[in-house]
Amino acid sequence: FSHQGEMPLIVQPVLQPLRLSLDKLRDVSSRLHKGLVQGLGKHSHHRAAVKMLPTFVRATPDGTEKGDFLALDLGGTNFRVLHVRVLQAEQKVVKMDSQICVVPKDMMTGATQQLFDHIASCLGDFIASQELKGQTLPLGFTFSFPCEQKEIDKSILIRWTKGFNCPGVEGRDVVTLLRDAVRRRGDYDIGSVAMVNDTVGTMMSCGYKDQSCEIGMIIGTGTNACYMEEMKNVKRVEGEDGRMCINTEWGGFGDDGSLRDIQTEFDQMVDKTSINPGVHIFEKMISGMYLGEIVRLLLLRLSEEKLLFKGQKSEVLQTPEIFQTKFISEIEEEDTGLDNARRILTQLDLQWDEADVRVVRLVCDTVSSRSARLCAAALATIANKMRLNRGLDRLQTTVGVDGTVYRKHPNFSEELQLTVRLLAPECSITFLVSEDGSGKGAAMVTAVAQRLCVLFPCLHFLIKSYMSDLKNE
Ligand code: GLC
Repeated sequence: FSHQGEMPLIVQPVLQPLRLSLDKLRDVSSRLHKGLVQGLGKHSHHRAAVKMLPTFVRATPDGTEKGDFLALDLGGTNFRVLHVRVLQAEQKVVKMDSQICVVPKDMMTGATQQLFDHIASCLGDFIASQELKGQTLPLGFTFSFPCEQKEIDKSILIRWTKGFNCPGVEGRDVVTLLRDAVRRRGDYDIGSVAMVNDTVGTMMSCGYKDQSCEIGMIIGTGTNACYMEEMKNVKRVEGEDGRMCINTEWGGFGDDGSLRDIQTEFDQMVDKTSINPGVHIFEKMISGMYLGEIVRLLLLRLSEEKLLFKGQKSEVLQTPEIFQTKFISEIEEEDTGLDNARRILTQLDLQWDEADVRVVRLVCDTVSSRSARLCAAALATIANKMRLNRGLDRLQTTVGVDGTVYRKHPNFSEELQLTVRLLAPECSITFLVSEDGSGKGAAMVTAVAQRLCVLFPCLHFLIKSYMSDLKNE
C-alpha cells in the first residue's frame, strides 16, 4: 500500500476493513474461480451470480477484415454514434466521424420506447449528417449490460446495471427494440446488427493490433471482463471445438452473498441506496460509479468520529454523490494532489486544516487501492484459468483495457499490474489500453462476423443446395 506506513493510528480502525491482504485476495480469487465454473455449467448457470455469458464471438480478428460500419455505444459515460472504416491494407480501424448524444437522466430510468426512439433519432441525425442515407451499413451495437445472446444479432437484456433502469426492457431482445424504433422513423435503414458488450469490443479492437489479445477488461462506470474460453467448457452452447468469447459479468460476483466478509458497512450503504440493491456487489466495490460515494461515506464517518474537519457536522458530506470519483484521481496525483485536495475541500465548503488534507488523501488511496487489488484478483483468476485450460506451464497473453478509472487514475494501473503479477506468477500479461474499444471494437466484431459469414452462409448454402440436389435425383 503506497501510504500504509503513514496511516495515522487514529483513523486506522475505520480504514482497516478496506485493506485486503494478499492472502485475502487469493481467497477471493478462488471463490471467483468457483463462480466462473458455476456460470459455465449447463445446469448450474441459472443460479450463478457470475453469469458467464456466451457472446457468439468465436474468432478474434485475423487482419483480413475490411469495410464501412456504423457503431452505437450505450452504457458508459456517454451515448455515441460512430462511422468506422476498417482498412485491411494498413491493418487499421479508422474512425471517420462520431457524435455524442446526451441521454437525459430521467430517460435512463424512463419508458423503453422513449429511450430507443432517442437512440434511433440520434442515429438518424448522424446518418443524415454523414450523407449515408441511401446506404445500409452493418451496425455494431455496443450495449454494455448483461445480455443473454442467442446469436450475434439476438440479445436479451438480463437486467440493467449502473445508472440505467427502464422498466420493461429486461427479458426483451435489444436488436428488435432498435429495429422497431428505426422502422417507426422510416427515413433510413440499417443492415445486419452485431451486439457487443464493451469488454468484447475492447478485446477485439486490441486484437486487430495484437493477435494474442484474448481478454478484454473495463474499469470505468462499471467493471467487467471477457476472455476466450474453450468451447468444451462452455456447456451451454453446442459444440466442443475451438473457443468462444465469454462475457463474465464479474460485476455480479458476490450477489449470492459470497463477498459478505469483505463488504464493509460503507459498501452495504452504497448498495442499499443504489437503484438496484443486491445487484452487482463486486462492481459496487470497484467501479467509477461508486468509488466517490464510498469515499464520501468514509469522510462522513471520520468527521462524525471527530477525526476529520474538527468534527463539524457537515451537511455537505451528507449529500449523496457530492464527492465525485474524479476527485479521487485528482487528489492522488503525485505532485499536484495535495493542492487539488485543498481546492476540492474548499469548493465543497468544508473547513479543513493540513492534517485533514492528508487524511482525505489517505482515504482516497485506500478506496482506489482496494478497487485495483480486487480487479487484479479477478483478472488473475481468469488468466490462471486460461493457463490451466491450455495445459501450459506459462501463459503469455494480452489484455485490452479501457475505462475512465483505469485510464485516468494516477496509480491504479500500476497497482493492478503489480498485484496480478503476485497472484498469477505463471502468467505474463501485457496490458494494452484500447483505443476506443466501444466504438472501433464494435465495428471490428461486426467485421469479423461478416468475414466468417462470408464463408459460413456460402457453405451453408452449398450444402443445402447439394442436399436438395440429392433429394431431387
Ligand atoms: C456493467 C455491465 C457490463 C459492462 C460493465 C462495464 O458491469 O453489466 O455489461 O461490461 O458495466 O461497462
